[in-house]
Amino acid sequence: MPHSVRAVVARAKGEPVTVETIQVPDPGPGEVLVAVQACGVCHTDLHYREGAINDEFPFLLGHEASGIVEEVGEGVTNVAPGDFVILNWRAVCGECRSCLRGRPWYCFATHNATQKMTLDGVELSPALGIGAFAEKTLVHSGQATKVDPAAPPEVAGLIGCGVMAGLGAAMNTGNVGRGDSVAVFGCGGVGDAAIAGSHLAGAHTIIAVDIDDRKLEIAREFGATHTINSSAEDPVEAIRALTGGNGVDVAIEAIGLPVTYEQAFYARDLAGTVVLVGVPNPEMKIELPMIEVFGRGGTLKSSWYGDCLPSRDFPMLIDLYLQGRLDLDRFVSERISIDDVEEAFHAMERGEVLRSVVVL
Ligand code: APR
Ligand code: ZN
Ligand code: ZN
Repeated sequence: MPHSVRAVVARAKGEPVTVETIQVPDPGPGEVLVAVQACGVCHTDLHYREGAINDEFPFLLGHEASGIVEEVGEGVTNVAPGDFVILNWRAVCGECRSCLRGRPWYCFATHNATQKMTLDGVELSPALGIGAFAEKTLVHSGQATKVDPAAPPEVAGLIGCGVMAGLGAAMNTGNVGRGDSVAVFGCGGVGDAAIAGSHLAGAHTIIAVDIDDRKLEIAREFGATHTINSSAEDPVEAIRALTGGNGVDVAIEAIGLPVTYEQAFYARDLAGTVVLVGVPNPEMKIELPMIEVFGRGGTLKSSWYGDCLPSRDFPMLIDLYLQGRLDLDRFVSERISIDDVEEAFHAMERGEVLRSVVVL
């Protein structure tokens, strides 16, 4: 029997979201029904409701979540009812050209649930194939990663998207290592996670860049050794001054703007790495002297979802949190109810929160 549950739906472009009663099917083969316990409010949810991702309304929002497995469909072996799981949007296929070459974190054919959740008989499009601002959601079994249940749900859920993106930009994509110098442009949830990841990886110098002094103060709590307000001084000059005139080994852009990408490009040492984890819009362009691209050497990379492999990274990061080596609590700015998602979007736009988390 399908389950009737409360959920946050974006019915039409730009309109405020509403809480509706939706229908969630019982899990079929390879699917898992999850009772959601917590789900963070991410920029991508807002982008869906603004129609910036695609036009497949109505959307079932929410994708940064944790919960308890309630029921599993035929053939599911990785999780069982009662397991505490973090949801992910990289259920790797094992068969695409990237998986077959041993690089599943780039999987080009990730799995989602086959059956559809519905509102008044109309199929819903779940955000990033998850849809977790809901009392229950249906996902592919590979989208549920079992972790230690000692972690609080609202903290664990954040590993499912923004925090993973930032941690992974530093630890996986940027390959930050012991003794490295790092600069992070943009100190929202993603940038702060990149700072925390750099700290965890043993970076020696971690320079936080933002235009908001409140954000720079928080960045220090995550491990920034230096801060630069780039509305008051030239960040490239300031970063060079802090690194013996050379620039950083790894420059991470966590905003998604041409101006800060260029700053990251020039703030990097010779043979250094630039990592773009901020998401640009389709109109944005960058213009760089080609001789500089060549002459500076090194690597220009993008980080999709922190190049994470959920089965490898989620349990490890939760263990580090439980050992007190990774502060995830600090990312939770407020706990809200499922009725408050629209207001949380506005708080996000005003730059007041790292993460608002819906607790169910
Ligand atoms: N220079 C420096 N910092 C800036 C600038 C700028 N020109 N413009 C904005 N910022 C800072 C803001 O002050 C804020 O602290 O960048 C930070 C962005 O943080 P959030 O808006 O909270 O965004 P976050 O959730 O961290 O995501 C950052 O990563 O995954 C993507 O879609 C996401 O593109 C977004 C980016
Ligand atoms: Zn694949
Ligand atoms: Zn997200």
